[in-house]
Amino acid sequence: MSIEVVGVIGAGVMGVGVAQNLAQTGHRVILLDTSDDILESAVQKIRQNVRFSRLFNKTSPQDPLEEVMERITTTTTYDPLHKADFVVENVVEKWDVKKEIYPQLDQVCPEHCVFAANTSCISITKIGSVTNRPDRIIGMHFMNPVPLMVLVEGISGLQTSPETFSKVKSFAEYLGKTFVEAKDMPGFAVNRILMPMINEAVYTLHEGIASVEDIDAAMKLGTNQPMGPLTLADFIGLDTCLAIMNVLHDGLGDTKYRPCPLLVKYVEAGWLGRKSGRGFYNYAAQ
Ligand code: NAI
Repeated sequence: MSIEVVGVIGAGVMGVGVAQNLAQTGHRVILLDTSDDILESAVQKIRQNVRFSRLFNKTSPQDPLEEVMERITTTTTYDPLHKADFVVENVVEKWDVKKEIYPQLDQVCPEHCVFAANTSCISITKIGSVTNRPDRIIGMHFMNPVPLMVLVEGISGLQTSPETFSKVKSFAEYLGKTFVEAKDMPGFAVNRILMPMINEAVYTLHEGIASVEDIDAAMKLGTNQPMGPLTLADFIGLDTCLAIMNVLHDGLGDTKYRPCPLLVKYVEAGWLGRKSGRGFYNYAAQ
């Protein structure tokens, strides 16, 4: 069965990017979040991003803006998802929130529908346990910003079927992504490596070893990374970074994954990075 209609659950940083990527590759998207205000602002962001991508990418053919936008509908209820062939779930990285989503999807989505969790580190096997289709659950870890980043990490849970895995691999490739496989272990591959580096950058700041700007400049220029770790943390969201460190710490039981107390403080203050206007940098003027 081909994938035509895709439910996108959560219209935050990742949901917006996933919805844009899907609509620009010809899919009909049903975007769900908890309020009309969130959805309205998400649609505005997608419109702006599609417009930009049309301006800056003149080399490959692109569908007209209005045609792309017409493929996206929004909802605060699950009923419209009875048409979904595929779902990508992108709600906040909190188990208590994620675990409530899947039983609701089970109730309305057709049998053939696969659920892909765009999680940074929550166990795919655990997600499978709260659904009635653990063979059709998979981790599909997109990178931010989704339309520009070509990597998707694919993670099978203990009960994910080989058919689901190969269907999702082909789907990711159809979206223009390179698909890498990782085991269902805390942090998978990308965040197992990336987050301890970001956490260590926060410790470097916390212990007064270098300033925010110097840490970023040192890592950019000294290790040839396109952006410094604190800029990247602001981009990802500090709450998401903290949630991932907690999963690594709890799941692997090693003190080397202890979240930096300064990261905890920033999240407590509501300094979540770009999305809240302040993180390691101040974005209020932008
Ligand atoms: P975000 O905080 O920007 O967006 C989360 C969205 O979920 C919000 O719009 C919120 O209203 C919505 N939401 C919360 N409860 C909901 C519910 N019960 N039903 C429907 N929607 C609900 O978070 P972000 O950054 O988009 O992350 C989403 C997921 O993607 C997380 O699991 C995260 O780990 C993962 N991820 C994040 C990346 C990043 O760079 N930010 C990269 C790759 C994956």
